[in-house]
Amino acid sequence: MADGLRKGLTAYGDSGFSLFLRKAFIKAMGYSDDALDRPIVGITNTHSDYNPCHGNAPQIIEAVKRGVMLAGAMPMVFPTISIAESFAHPTSMYLRNLMAMDTEEMIRAQPMDAVVVIGGCDKTLPAQVMAAVSADLPTVVIPVGPMVVGHHKGEVLGACTDCRRLWAKYRAGEIDDAEIEAVNGRLAPSVGTCMVMGTASTMACMIEAMGLSLPMSATIPAPHAERFRSAEASGRVAAAMAKAKGPRPSEILTPAAFRNAQVVLQAIGGSTNGLIHLTAIAGRVPHRIDLDDFDAIGRKVPVLVDLKPSGAHYMEHFHHAGGVPKLMAQLGDLIELDASTVTGATLREVVAQAEDVPGQDVIRSRDNPIRCEGGLAVLHGNLAPRGALIKHAAASPGLLQHTGRAVVFETLEDMARRIDDPDLDVAADDVLVLRNAGPKGAPGMPEAGYLPIPLKLARAGVKDMVRISDARMSGTAFGTIVLHITPESAEGGPLALVQTGDRIALDVAARRIDLLVDDAELTRRRTALPATTAIRPARGYAQLFHDAVLQADEGCDFDFLTAAGRRA
Ligand code: FES
Repeated sequence: MADGLRKGLTAYGDSGFSLFLRKAFIKAMGYSDDALDRPIVGITNTHSDYNPCHGNAPQIIEAVKRGVMLAGAMPMVFPTISIAESFAHPTSMYLRNLMAMDTEEMIRAQPMDAVVVIGGCDKTLPAQVMAAVSADLPTVVIPVGPMVVGHHKGEVLGACTDCRRLWAKYRAGEIDDAEIEAVNGRLAPSVGTCMVMGTASTMACMIEAMGLSLPMSATIPAPHAERFRSAEASGRVAAAMAKAKGPRPSEILTPAAFRNAQVVLQAIGGSTNGLIHLTAIAGRVPHRIDLDDFDAIGRKVPVLVDLKPSGAHYMEHFHHAGGVPKLMAQLGDLIELDASTVTGATLREVVAQAEDVPGQDVIRSRDNPIRCEGGLAVLHGNLAPRGALIKHAAASPGLLQHTGRAVVFETLEDMARRIDDPDLDVAADDVLVLRNAGPKGAPGMPEAGYLPIPLKLARAGVKDMVRISDARMSGTAFGTIVLHITPESAEGGPLALVQTGDRIALDVAARRIDLLVDDAELTRRRTALPATTAIRPARGYAQLFHDAVLQADEGCDFDFLTAAGRRA
């Protein structure tokens, strides 16, 4: 198969002419024949003025280029879509598959022998790995790295767990306008991704455990010099992979790699979004993530990393304590150590190099865990026939077994309109229900599952309530929150049948979420419902999204992008 600049020639019906033309045009950039004869490493550029999380991407790209050239290959930088969490309307999740398609097709379309994908803000790394897996070209992943922590009045702050905590205090009247403004300038003190164990950090840790990035690359803070040395080393590795034509993602992403990712997701108390993205990645290859297997892993794997939102520390502390290699060392036989990595080393060799940091209390040992079980649990029941998820590590222990009266919000708009109404009939032991917030219903499955505590209850000191929805939740959020109820209500899921005043029972130990209404009544309600309430857009990406997006238990990928392709 052709390589380097000869790869994937433009179709003019004369391959000699295609190469001649390609070289003539690229020489306009000043490249020599020597440069153009080298193996090519493509490097994605997701820098954007709309994406502060990727603010160090230009410096990372320079370091990768240096590494590629030091190893005798040719770096070629190309742009792809960039998605920043708080700048994406309606949600970043709505755009993840678009970014995955863009990245996959540009990897396929342009001549390169290996690719380095540089991302970090929540949906970017999943999109890039989904793309790389489908293109199956040798790939090195570089996370942009977490922000360093902020400080306010002697307290350490982290985006965005403390954004939510302090906003809740502001809503409750505990802090004033001047202080919330001061906090606003201190929550994100550097470029980089959120420095708690949110979705960005979760994905970076899982990707490192899957062997797709260099050891320690998940945790090095974004502004640190070490981040750029790691990028240079990644460039060297990518150049070696370009010359060797491997390993490819399909060779690295074995069932053991997917299992290791699930073990790490549980052990870090990771984001609920991590499971959706991992499911989407697995859907691109012949391996599947089974929700019940994931739950079984969670019953065996303890939470060992003490990070917000479920713990006390931040990503830079995790890094200085030894990062993912040290975590995998502590997990011991729960990790399949024969799994391989992009460097050619096995995880056994990575773990053997893990740093021992005396006195650190961020990465615990298995005999002294933060929690004996993993951070996430899968629920089933008549409300969630295909499953739902709860991050019980970040929930209130007293609410993990709770029966309460449903208070239903039809849509996000309905919730925004009524949640702070002083006349809202709601009590602290009620169960807040949000529907029409799933993949199709919203659309884009917004991170709206962290329903705010109704103002009158917040002001009375209520900090947590059971909240359930078909939405997602930011990995930085916390509370007794049941998410990803599948099938979603807009597609006829049982969540659509709940009425205000019904009783709902949550029992996390039994892994159940149930609507306590008899079957005859539920059947009667169902006959009065349309099959779908999701409106099909008239055109464009919105219509493609509506027609193709899968449910949460299938990773919300587009059906035609999975390994199996669109089903008849
Ligand atoms: Fe980009 Fe949190 S907003 S990672």
